[in-house]
Amino acid sequence: MKIDKELFNNWAANYDQSLAAGTAPISFEGYEDVLAETVVQAKVAPGMNVLDLGTGTGNLAAHFIAAGCDVWGMDFSENMLAKAQEKLSSLHTVLADLRDETWPQSLTRHFDRIVSAYVWHDFDLAYKMRLLKRLSGQYLASQGRVVIADIAYSDQAARTQAGAYWGRLWSKAEHYWAADETIAACKANGLGCTYQQVSSCAGVFVIEIAPGN
Ligand SMILES: C[S@@+](CC[C@H](N)C(=O)[O-])C[C@H]1O[C@@H](n2cnc3c(N)ncnc32)[C@H](O)[C@@H]1O
Repeated sequence: MKIDKELFNNWAANYDQSLAAGTAPISFEGYEDVLAETVVQAKVAPGMNVLDLGTGTGNLAAHFIAAGCDVWGMDFSENMLAKAQEKLSSLHTVLADLRDETWPQSLTRHFDRIVSAYVWHDFDLAYKMRLLKRLSGQYLASQGRVVIADIAYSDQAARTQAGAYWGRLWSKAEHYWAADETIAACKANGLGCTYQQVSSCAGVFVIEIAPGN
């Protein structure tokens, strides 16, 4: 899949301002509520290790640091990571691409929580499942959970309806989630999955290793 890293490097300078001013893409509607729900669903306790994938300028990571967690922020954009580090001195920044076959040694540990916001819509369902299997098999602590916020709908029909409504604003290159197909795909891969719609176009998935797997 083609993802333009330079787009994110260029966006880093005014990412936070574009969110505050409401000039970010319409899909960011309810952004703060979506991040807040991600934190609620993560059910963290102080001292937990948290990995934030595609941490950007660190807005989600900041919530977990405030909750007393030790947080690693991974991103492939040097400029995004520089902004995050500027804001969050205790964040462990990790420069890496989610699509790489191997990730840096600093990530070789088991995380109590793996979280991510507004990143995975670049990946199709099969690739999302591949990543989830990799995370749950190698990087997630037992009893851990993966919590993913992104552009998503309750089911495929709602997603189709939204596509018609958005018209030209709907990106055919991106893979917005539908909870019904995601829950079924997770089940087939030995993963439990729940979904909570938060805004008209975004929600939060909780993924855990299903009992017996
Ligand atoms: C829309 S921003 C979201 C940032 C942050 N999670 C938030 O909620 O504000 C997407 C972030 O994911 C990063 N990203 C996109 N594709 C990536 C990949 N393949 N590997 C690592 N980071 C990626 C981008 O650099 C960017 O910082």
